[in-house]
Amino acid sequence: MSGDQITVVVSAIEQVAPSIREFTLTSKDATLYPFSPGSHVVVEMQGESKTYKNAYSLMSDPWDTDAYKIAVRLQDSSRGGSIYMHEQVEVGDELKITPPANMFAPEWGAKKHVLIAGGVGITPFMSYLPELMRRDADFELHYLYRGNNTGAYKAELAQELGARYFGYDSVQGEKCDIATLFAERLLGTHFYICGPESLIEGVKSLADECGVPASAIHYEEFAAPQPGMPFEVEIKSTGVVVPVGAEESMLEALEAAEIEVPNLCRGGVCGQCVCQVEEGEIEHRDHFLSGAEKAAGTAVMPCVSRAKSKRLVIEI
Ligand code: FES
Repeated sequence: MSGDQITVVVSAIEQVAPSIREFTLTSKDATLYPFSPGSHVVVEMQGESKTYKNAYSLMSDPWDTDAYKIAVRLQDSSRGGSIYMHEQVEVGDELKITPPANMFAPEWGAKKHVLIAGGVGITPFMSYLPELMRRDADFELHYLYRGNNTGAYKAELAQELGARYFGYDSVQGEKCDIATLFAERLLGTHFYICGPESLIEGVKSLADECGVPASAIHYEEFAAPQPGMPFEVEIKSTGVVVPVGAEESMLEALEAAEIEVPNLCRGGVCGQCVCQVEEGEIEHRDHFLSGAEKAAGTAVMPCVSRAKSKRLVIEI
């Protein structure tokens, strides 16, 4: 993150589901920026031995510059970021965030918007809804969740959206028939998916089978970096070698060594952090590079991807 960070104060925390906490963030010293629906911020968390930086969707009304809201799910495989937000952060604490950035904006030329959310994937749509309603747009929300554990906001969404809301509780065996949504779509309908990778991949492959053009499918998944084997990354031009531990991403290790790498999503989707690979074998974990680019082995997304070899030689 760069010098244009914003310091915010946690002004409220609400447990909106057993595994999901909502945080209200108020600016400490400046007015917050308005943002476009689907925007996210990267939150910097100063842990005891390490700094965590995680991207979270803004879920407040984009026009509301008094406060931002984010929701954080306690991840089973958390390396510390979501645990920190759940266990360490209290009302009154200060956090640093980036200005909002958007990689998941609505396609305003669409005739109809179909939003498909899985669990905490509801969050970007919480900022879509006020704007869709202000524009009197044709839309519907399909919300897939697991009982009360991940079904945050379902009652208020059902009440607010009425016939435009469709909820599916997997605990009750309820399923969203996405093939029918595709088959019965109106011309000019765009579909937006946010949730776990399995949901996104499933919807994308069904869209392909059903002849829905890829340009009408929009999705967002921040793949939190997963742990892996330790390795070393060498910067070819300087010869500097940085060890990457099992529990940190290559980007985090480079940042800890004060080597700046441009980044936006920190989740393998925006392409900002791409580095040229000169030597070594890559374990690609991003959603940005094409299959052919991955196979070529000459570019890596250090925010999520790692090395299969003991050392990766890169250029930033
Ligand atoms: S920061 Fe977005 S792909 Fe790495």
